[in-house]
Amino acid sequence: MRILSGIQPSGALHLGNYFGMMRPAIELQERGDAFYFIADYHSLTSLSDPDVLRRNTRDVALDFLACGLDPARTVFFKQSAVPEVTELTWLLSTVTPMGLLERCHSYKDKTARGLAATHGLFSYPVLMAADILIYDSNLVPVGRDQKQHVEVTRDVAVKFNLAYGETFVIPEPEIREEVATVPGLDGQKMSKSYGNTIEIFAEEKAVRKKIMGIVMDSRTPQEPKPDADRNLAVQLLKLVAPADTARDYEERLRAGGLGYGDLKKKLFEAYWEHFAAARARRAELVAAPDYVDGVLRDGAAKARDLASTVLRRARRACGLD
Ligand code: TYM
Repeated sequence: MRILSGIQPSGALHLGNYFGMMRPAIELQERGDAFYFIADYHSLTSLSDPDVLRRNTRDVALDFLACGLDPARTVFFKQSAVPEVTELTWLLSTVTPMGLLERCHSYKDKTARGLAATHGLFSYPVLMAADILIYDSNLVPVGRDQKQHVEVTRDVAVKFNLAYGETFVIPEPEIREEVATVPGLDGQKMSKSYGNTIEIFAEEKAVRKKIMGIVMDSRTPQEPKPDADRNLAVQLLKLVAPADTARDYEERLRAGGLGYGDLKKKLFEAYWEHFAAARARRAELVAAPDYVDGVLRDGAAKARDLASTVLRRARRACGLD
């Protein structure tokens, strides 16, 4: 079974990325042949500073490796190190109905938020389809916001197969219900573009300030809170704290007597502790740039090998060869 996923280097990675995609992807390394990449081509639709792109790409590599991506099991690479994917994007775009792309929420959301309505942003899902199909992927671990893009991929693969004969594997999304949409500091989906993130690796003081600043209601500590399970800090605590600790705090909030300040303080401590080992690993990796470069170089060579085989199949199918 081949497992594939990508992550954009569009800013510091956050708890939404981690629990929605990275942790499931890291667990899946054991279950098959995993290919994970840094989607730098995709980032060009929202980022136009070359130095920032280079720095972010490096940071994503460090973050993912620090969190447990194992290069001995997993092929880890930069999307743009496999330029074959852009050629496949063109082949796929000739069978992609406009209507399919016009229905994509992500394009509508991004342009509504002020991103330039470029052709790249509009055809973003076709590049994503090429990413998935060029590695004969079976399973794509993603958060819920990417579900529609995996559905587009399936539709495009079926269209190509119908037009030219069986060429592509039809992939399935893998979305973990309990972390499909990790909430941000304001209760909306955690997202860099909403400015509501808790980064995986940030300065202690900055994260403490963010967490202590989460706005709660004005009920007194003594009041029982029957809606404790909907409290944002409780929801986040369930992700970063041991299950019995999270349950204990939820119960104390429900019963009354636990103040929001103490709850947020616990959230910060549990968050800090959750990523302590990864933080130490990341510091080691920062000091070993040649190692990180080597991982990405080896990954790119393996990815390119497979990608060129599948691209050759597609070129032959449609008559280019
Ligand atoms: P990106 O970079 O926006 O996000 C990376 C992954 O993190 C997940 N995620 C979340 N999950 C739960 N809750 C949240 N608040 C949250 N925020 C982000 C995303 O769902 C995603 O899985 N288009 C993709 C990158 C991509 C890709 C691909 C993915 C390019 N090609 C091929 C899979 C297969 C993206 O922008 O993800």
